[in-house]
Amino acid sequence: MLRGRRIVIGVTGGIACYKTCELVRLCVKAGAEVKVVMTEHATEFVAPLTFETLSGHDVVVGMYGRNRAMSTEHIALARWADIVVIAPATANILAKAAHGIADDFLSTMIIATYSPVMFVPAMNTAMLKAPATQRNIPLLLESGYHITPTGKGELADGEVGEGRMIEPREIMHHLVRALPRAGLLAGKRVLVTAGPTEEPVDPVRVFTNRSSGKMGVALAEMAAGMGAHVTFVHGPLAVPPPIGADCMAVGTAQQMMDAVLARFQEANVLVMAAAVADYRPKVVADQKIKKTTDTLAIEMERTPDILASVARKKKQGQIVVGFAVETDVEKAEKRARERLQKKSLDMIALNVIGENGVGFGTDTNRVTLFCRDGLKTELPLMEKREVARAMWERIAALQAAGS
Ligand code: CTP
Repeated sequence: MLRGRRIVIGVTGGIACYKTCELVRLCVKAGAEVKVVMTEHATEFVAPLTFETLSGHDVVVGMYGRNRAMSTEHIALARWADIVVIAPATANILAKAAHGIADDFLSTMIIATYSPVMFVPAMNTAMLKAPATQRNIPLLLESGYHITPTGKGELADGEVGEGRMIEPREIMHHLVRALPRAGLLAGKRVLVTAGPTEEPVDPVRVFTNRSSGKMGVALAEMAAGMGAHVTFVHGPLAVPPPIGADCMAVGTAQQMMDAVLARFQEANVLVMAAAVADYRPKVVADQKIKKTTDTLAIEMERTPDILASVARKKKQGQIVVGFAVETDVEKAEKRARERLQKKSLDMIALNVIGENGVGFGTDTNRVTLFCRDGLKTELPLMEKREVARAMWERIAALQAAGS
């Protein structure tokens, strides 16, 4: 999701430095090119070699770097970066940046960059609540810098309080949102649904299905990485929610429909990756059903069809994408094409379940895309995030053709 993005990570001297190693790894794994700048104090906590190994680039330390003169390197790096992330950000670096103090490589680069700068504070509660820090934070925000929240929990000094650095995945989430929107979906608003729905039977039981939400999460993360504003409406997920998306948790098919319809008007694209229940109990018992009989019959009724309702409200230029899950290879393509027509979709992604590595809970998927322009794209078995990329590329093409 960060393919081609250039990130400078500035590390200042706090124990939370160890979490920054994971942040660098996640960014590199997501496809970004990462360069690390450390203050002298940061090197007391983690050796530059660790960051050099993780990022694949030399680390700049202090004012002059480790091995060479760096007279203009801070300017070059400031221009190179799409975003500068300071993690952990101590009270000291917040104070320096708030007042334009440039007395080492990192603080000089912060003042020299035109790119967004995001601070990820980490300090003990007293330092966070100190009047100086509390003055500096609004000052930084007013100057256009981004500042992530801090977490609550056990701090390095054994106290429990506010000031912990947030976890690397959460930092990634803020980073993606602070990055200048660039890419195939720049400026687009997309709505993605994912996961199963849960239809209550009584206060303790639900009907649900085996969807993990992985495909929807991959679609949402990839869209955010490609520059879109992403809203993610989801049932209970077996995986962490997507990085970079606004998330909204729902339970039943009806709740998912209400959430989707409320947001569809503003969306350029809707991708329904959720495995929505087709039926729900006609009556939900208000007390727990007791096992008083040998058999139990529960009458079910159809849930609302979200795609069909959305299709009725679709405006010119909006793209609606559905998924089709089939187990019968022979009839799969015919059924997918029929559904494309019947539900007025722009694209349908067909999953034929049965093969290893395809479908619910797996990290890979094999999908065939059928589009309203008649094009059929058979994607090979690949990582769900690569399936997501291919789908967004096709969606962007449809949108360009339709506008
Ligand atoms: N879907 C929906 N609302 C429902 C059920 C499904 O919007 N109540 C969406 C799913 O998110 C998916 C697509 O419709 O994108 C699946 O279409 P559907 O006709 O339900 O497919 P299957 O369940 O595979 O079809 P069938 O029940 O006929 O086997």
